[in-house]
Amino acid sequence: MPVLMISNEESARVRKQKRFTTSLVVVFSASLVALLLGGCGQSSQPVPQPTSEPQVTPMPTLDASAVTLGQQVYAEYCASCHGIEGEGQQNWKEPLPNGNYPAPPHDDSGHTWHHGDGTLYRVVHEGSMARRQGITPGMPAFADVLTDKEIRATILYLKSIWSEETQQIQWEQSQRDPFPGQ
Ligand code: HEC
Repeated sequence: MPVLMISNEESARVRKQKRFTTSLVVVFSASLVALLLGGCGQSSQPVPQPTSEPQVTPMPTLDASAVTLGQQVYAEYCASCHGIEGEGQQNWKEPLPNGNYPAPPHDDSGHTWHHGDGTLYRVVHEGSMARRQGITPGMPAFADVLTDKEIRATILYLKSIWSEETQQIQWEQSQRDPFPGQ
C-alpha cells in the first residue's frame, strides 16, 4: 500500500514537472513571436479588435414575373440538358467516354448554388470555363440567343427551385459576386 502511495505521489510530481515545462515552452514561444512582430515594427500598431459579422443586405423576395419568364426560357433552352426540373443528367460527376461531363443538376443536389450571381451570369452568357478553355464543348454560350433580361430571369428561376437555406447561402455569396453592373 505505501509503495503504491509513493508511486502515486511520484507520478503526480512528474506530471507537475511536465506541466511546468510545457508552460515554460508556451511562454518562451509567445515572447519569441512578440519579439519577431516587434522587429517588424508592428508592436506600436493598435491591437486589432474582433470585428462583428459583416452586414449582409437582407435577401429580397424573388420577383414573380421574372421567375415566370425564367421558367419559360429554362424549359425552352436549358431543360434538354439540365432536366425539366433541374435534376441534371445521370452520373453528372463522372466524365463521359469522350471526356465531356454530363449536364449537372441545378437543384439543391447540384453545385450551381455554390456560385454567386456574377459567376452564374457569366457561365450562361459566355459558356462554362471548361468550354471557354476548349476543354469540353459542355455548357454553350447564350450571349447571342438570350437577352440580358432573360439570362437574369433564368437565374432567378433557378433560385426559385432551391430551399430557403440554399437561397440564403447563395445570396451571401452573391454579395461578393453580384450580377454585372450591380
Ligand atoms: C447542350 C447542353 C446544355 C444546355 C442546352 C445548357 N447547359 Fe448548362 N451546362 C451544361 C454542361 C455540360 C455543364 C457542365 C460544365 C461543362 O462541362 O461545360 C453546364 C453547366 C452549367 C452551369 C454551371 C453549373 C455549376 O455547378 O458550375 C450553369 C449555371 C448552367 N449550366 C446553366 C444553364 C442554363 C441557365 C441553360 C439554359 C439557358 C443551360 N445551362 C443550357 C450543358 C448544357
